Amino acid sequence: MNCDILITEKIVGQPVDDLRKRFVVDADPELWKDPVRLKARLRTARALIVRNQTQVTADLISDASSLCVIGRAGAGLDNIDLRAASAAGIVVVSTPDQNSLSVAELALAMMFALARRLTVADRSTKQGGWERQRFTGIELSGKTLGLVGLGRIGFLTGLRARALGMRVIAHDTYVSPDAAAVTETHAELVTFDELLARSDFVSCHVPLTPQTRGMFGYEQFCRMKSSAYFLNLARGELVNEAGLCRALDEGRIAGAALDVREKEPPGPSPLSARDDVILTPHIAAFTHEGQARVVAAVCGDVASVLLGESPRNFVNFPRTPRDLPN
Ligand code: MLT
Repeated sequence: MNCDILITEKIVGQPVDDLRKRFVVDADPELWKDPVRLKARLRTARALIVRNQTQVTADLISDASSLCVIGRAGAGLDNIDLRAASAAGIVVVSTPDQNSLSVAELALAMMFALARRLTVADRSTKQGGWERQRFTGIELSGKTLGLVGLGRIGFLTGLRARALGMRVIAHDTYVSPDAAAVTETHAELVTFDELLARSDFVSCHVPLTPQTRGMFGYEQFCRMKSSAYFLNLARGELVNEAGLCRALDEGRIAGAALDVREKEPPGPSPLSARDDVILTPHIAAFTHEGQARVVAAVCGDVASVLLGESPRNFVNFPRTPRDLPN
């Protein structure tokens, strides 16, 4: 079927229905799993809307001669070959802020859950236990949160942590000391090593790039306090999971919460058997409110590009030199 807009992951809601009133939309939530079929279906499409599972490679782009715009329903751009899209004159739009609050709130939830061992206490109690002393936890107030990355999500997390009475330190080489993210969270900007050494909770909020891939391995966990917790709600490939397991086995850190994994969905992993680890299936951005904002923003921007108007959240450029429909 020839379509204007191809949607390759589960993206639904009123904004998608509104797109259908103006354009031919082909939505197949499983298409991302089959790159060959995806390539064939994309050949005539003028817009592509994806989440993070569709790999928008240079090869895919090279075959999509009608494509004018790629809409990323989310913030991370690691699944899109931005260079290839830009070279082909394809506008890339994303939703950089729309789910940040949802992610920040899950980071806080993870900290509380780790501090009070909520997942283990819940399981024990449902199995008939009543182990009050075993589940003596720690308070967040007075503890130090180390934010690796002080972008929008790091900022919102820091602001909330601050309201809980936590001390906020941060490592972000792109942020200046007078930026609002620093002044409003009262964050102390520190080196990566200092952050590891001083934090009671280390929370990771950086994008996946060649520089950040694997930035947390056994060596980095060994530089943390043995009482500290590690959180990753950003990208799984930032962390070497074997290194994390070894650090936990040796008692180098107290526990971890991972919403994202080296491979998604993950295969069997020793992390699944651990009481000191909380695992969730990349749901940080998945709240009704956050997703409503994400879907509205990406659909609105894709429509804008197809109608020759400027999108709000373009990543490379606002207009395409490719032929637009009449
Ligand atoms: C994001 O990058 O916005 C979140 O990780 C959710 C997603 O990848 O779709």
